[in-house]
Order: sequence, then C-alpha cells, then structure tokens
Amino acid sequence: MCGRKRGSMAELNWKEYFNNKAKTHKGSVMTSDYYNEKSFYIQRENILGWLGVQKGKVILDGGCGVGAFSENLAKENEVHGIDFSEESLEYASKRGINTHFGNLTSVPFEDGKFDVCYSIGVIQYIHDYKNALKELARVVKPGGTLLIETLNEESLQRKAYCLFNKGKDFDLMFSKKQLSDVFVELGFKDIEFLTLYQPFYFKTTEKAPGFFDRRFGITFAIKGIKM
Ligand SMILES: C[S@@+](CC[C@H](N)C(=O)[O-])C[C@H]1O[C@@H](n2cnc3c(N)ncnc32)[C@H](O)[C@@H]1O
Repeated sequence: MCGRKRGSMAELNWKEYFNNKAKTHKGSVMTSDYYNEKSFYIQRENILGWLGVQKGKVILDGGCGVGAFSENLAKENEVHGIDFSEESLEYASKRGINTHFGNLTSVPFEDGKFDVCYSIGVIQYIHDYKNALKELARVVKPGGTLLIETLNEESLQRKAYCLFNKGKDFDLMFSKKQLSDVFVELGFKDIEFLTLYQPFYFKTTEKAPGFFDRRFGITFAIKGIKM
C-alpha cells in the first residue's frame, strides 16, 4: 500500500464510484477504470490467453463489473459474476453473465462450485482482501484454478506515482510474494505469475518473482491450482 488514507475511500465509496462510472460510461469497458480501451483489450487478451482455452466450464468472475472481461467466455461456459455495483451488473447481464449482487468478502456460493475463479483488478479496492481471497478460494473445486490480477506495489513506476501523489487516496497494491504466500496458505500449488508491462503489449511469465518483472511490471496476475 502506498499512503492510502484508511477509511477515507472505504468500500461504500468504491461501490458508489463504480455505480457512477457505469452510468457515465453506459457500461462500456471504460467503466472499469482502465487507462484506455486499448489497455483493457491488451489485458484481457493476455490474461485469458495465459488462463488457457475454457469450454463447458463453470466460472466465477469476482468483481465482474460490466462483464466485458468475461463476455466471450460466457458464450461457451457457464459464467457467474458477482459485484457490489448494481448499475454495473445490469450491463454484465446483457453480456451474458449470470449476475449476483454481493461483496467478495462473503461469496454466496457453496464450496467447490467452480472450475475456474478469477478476479481482475478488484482486490486493490478491498481492505479485507485476505478474506476476499479466502472466499474466492473456497468456491474453487479441488483441481480448479484461481487467478487474481492486481497492481504491482514493487514496480518503479508505481513507487514514483506514490512519491508524487502523497496524501491522495490510493488503491491498495501488492507484491508477488505477498499474494503467493496467501495462495500457499489457502492450499494452492503450481503457482505462476503473468507480468504486464503496460502501456506496452509486452508480457512475461514466471514461476517465481525475478529482478526485472518485479520492478517494471505495473500489474501482474497470479494463478494456482487448488489441492
Ligand atoms: C476496476 S473494476 C474491474 C471490473 C472487471 N473485473 C474488469 O476487469 O473489467 C472493479 C470492480 O470491482 C467491484 N468491487 C470492488 N470491491 C468489491 C467488493 N468488495 N465486492 C464486490 N465487488 C467489488 C467494483 O464494483 C467494480 O465493478
């Protein structure tokens, strides 16, 4: 985390924030606070390519927003999306997602329901992120995949941003080790990372964090298989 004033931009405000965004952007991909549309499509292509082809699976998109990330998967899989922004969920439903209103800290599904569960650009808004991860992990079936994408606290660009924006509300940020420790605690194996070097298309994959990817990747994804 870099100087976020705890409690000042709490969950309630993020909910309001994303409801307003959905209204303003009429459910376009810009609702989700991507740098621009191109950045969204680059991330989606890279992350879904890394996740691998999914067909006939039961999938959970945690913090699905307007559903743009999952819309293609929804054509050949049963995709469920949970979010606390009602306005966003209306658009997600139009994109073929089975929508559920709720908070990721208390996911309304039984244990082991999903083959795949991912959450893209969401945990940085959740103070109680460990509990959210625990909940997402709980609903993945043994042998299933959990994938989380978020902001890389260790990147030099993020550190510079924090330095010049002291006192501003920030999203939470994470190191790869921090999330990998949580994945291990929650019973995941075969942990791997995907590092995205936006605004460039460039990406790398790692089995363990390395010198270059830790410092230069602005966002990263982590995935693991539930034991
Ligand atoms: C940056 S958007 C990402 C949306 C989508 N995953 C995507 O990549 O297009 C973050 C989403 O997470 C949702 N969100 C944030 N905190 C949440 C929480 N605690 N429970 C449920 N949804 C949450 C917001 O409402 C918003 O739709």
